[in-house]
Amino acid sequence: MKKILVLHGINLNMFGKRDSAQYGTATLQEIDDQMVTLGNQLGYEVECFQTNCEGEMAERIHRAHQEGVAAVVINAGAWTHYSYGISDALAILKAPIVEVHMSNVHAREQFRHHSVFSHVVKGQICGFGVTSYRLGMLAADALLKG
Ligand code: DQA
Repeated sequence: MKKILVLHGINLNMFGKRDSAQYGTATLQEIDDQMVTLGNQLGYEVECFQTNCEGEMAERIHRAHQEGVAAVVINAGAWTHYSYGISDALAILKAPIVEVHMSNVHAREQFRHHSVFSHVVKGQICGFGVTSYRLGMLAADALLKG
């Protein structure tokens, strides 16, 4: 069975406790449960991983390369806007990558408008809360099934 890896970056373990106007009230566990259920329905194994440590995220991405994961759905949180290290790690992957954000980053502060992952991801989904993640999973499925 193909695996889809769902990656969550810095501060995203605090979903449910962060600004609900931007991020809603769902916890990371609830988001992960939805991603596993949806991914399984689509015929994939789903693994979810969160870390607040940039090096751990890079190492998880390196392992994803070794494991040959089929696709990655990533919300890297604030790293999205400045981490060339995570961007370079993602660039190593052959698998398609979908970038997601709960909030509409383009309607927020200027620094959130730019993603340093833009050139390595297939596309970006933002502004729909947990639905951004679900759409990210559907996009990964569409990329895999052509
Ligand atoms: C976020 C948007 C980022 O700008 C922010 O730093 C986050 C969450 C989102 O899901 O909307 O931590 O990635």
